[in-house]
Amino acid sequence: MSWTILVTGGAGFIGSNFVRYLLREYPDYRVINLDKLTYSGNLNNLKDVARDPRYEFVQGDITEESVVLPLVQRSDAVVNFAAESHVDRSIADPGVFLRTNVEGPRVLLEASRESGVKRFVQISTDEVYGEVMTGSSRETDRLAPRSPYSASKAGGELLVQSYHVTFGVPTLITRGSNTIGPYQYPEKVVPLFITNALDDRPLPIYGPGTAVRDYIHVVDHCRGIDQVLHHGIEGEVYNIGADNSVNTVDLASAIVDYLGKPRALLQHVQDRPGHDQRYSVDSGKLRKLGWSLCYTFKDALEETIRWYRDNREWWEPIKKGEYARWYDEHYKIHETPHES
Ligand code: NAD
Ligand code: TYD
Repeated sequence: MSWTILVTGGAGFIGSNFVRYLLREYPDYRVINLDKLTYSGNLNNLKDVARDPRYEFVQGDITEESVVLPLVQRSDAVVNFAAESHVDRSIADPGVFLRTNVEGPRVLLEASRESGVKRFVQISTDEVYGEVMTGSSRETDRLAPRSPYSASKAGGELLVQSYHVTFGVPTLITRGSNTIGPYQYPEKVVPLFITNALDDRPLPIYGPGTAVRDYIHVVDHCRGIDQVLHHGIEGEVYNIGADNSVNTVDLASAIVDYLGKPRALLQHVQDRPGHDQRYSVDSGKLRKLGWSLCYTFKDALEETIRWYRDNREWWEPIKKGEYARWYDEHYKIHETPHES
């Protein structure tokens, strides 16, 4: 089998890791990466594969039909990573989230329906279940998103499901948990905390820091997506999680401890509005397809810390540009200390 895979959002964090993964694992595959290069898209994430003859980059927007259709027509499968992905930005400016995360899938689905692709994989998130204070979400649980980000991702998913039911598009949906590893834009908590700690800057912890997330290494997430792409049942949804529950204070403490920095860097700031206190997914359905984790949480975090420590040239320019404006503006809102 020799497939051409259209990866959208392949210049972002998980997408770039997935492109690299596909080229490594499937020597006969070709990969087309369609990415708009928004603030979080970065061609430096794929420098090592840029000259691979099996890889092609196209700069473009998934909401533009004239860009999308010819690329889908050349592809056997579509894997849609392209998204606005940060909860805090969705609170500041929800409009672009609806456009990219809902209208984007519609355009990709229309093109896929017309061209008859073999697989359409929508990369979604455990956040569509909303806050889950006990137990772990299963794929059949109701969707109860609570942020503009997760609401837009749930909207995108529902549209994907509707194209399967109504038009028979061979869709699959993955709901991954909080992902960590190399090339993650440093607005997300793990690279934010690591890079701030490396620069001896405070680690801003929202509220009491008791909110819990399940952190998965990006390679384990990519392996799960691969399993679903090749072996998932059409029309189905698959959770991809790592079975850990780590709160923000413990996360920040582990990072400063590993780097030998003082715990005094932990700084409680005003909470995020509507802050989901816990996510947890049951990945039993994916495990039945033959997937299992390679990383423990400790290994995943420590490897990630070492990558940021050793790759300053990747993140320093990012933190100076658009990011610096975002950071100053955003953390101004959070600068009121949290009162416990
Ligand atoms: P990211 O922000 O690092 O990357 C998103 C990529 O999409 C960027 O390269 C950006 O340029 C591109 N993009 C944005 N709008 C576009 C558009 N209109 N057309 C074409 N390209 C566009 O995000 P990420 O963390 O890699 O997340 C990738 C996907 O995985 C998203 O769909 C996200 O919802 C999902 N997800 C992320 C996590 C996580 O922890 N990061 C967890 C579960 C699911
Ligand atoms: P984040 O990486 O934004 O992912 P999510 O989409 O799951 O919210 O945040 C992860 C957790 O870390 C979440 O509970 C919010 C918290 N957090 C902070 O405490 N401070 C920060 O500066 C950020 C960005 C997140």
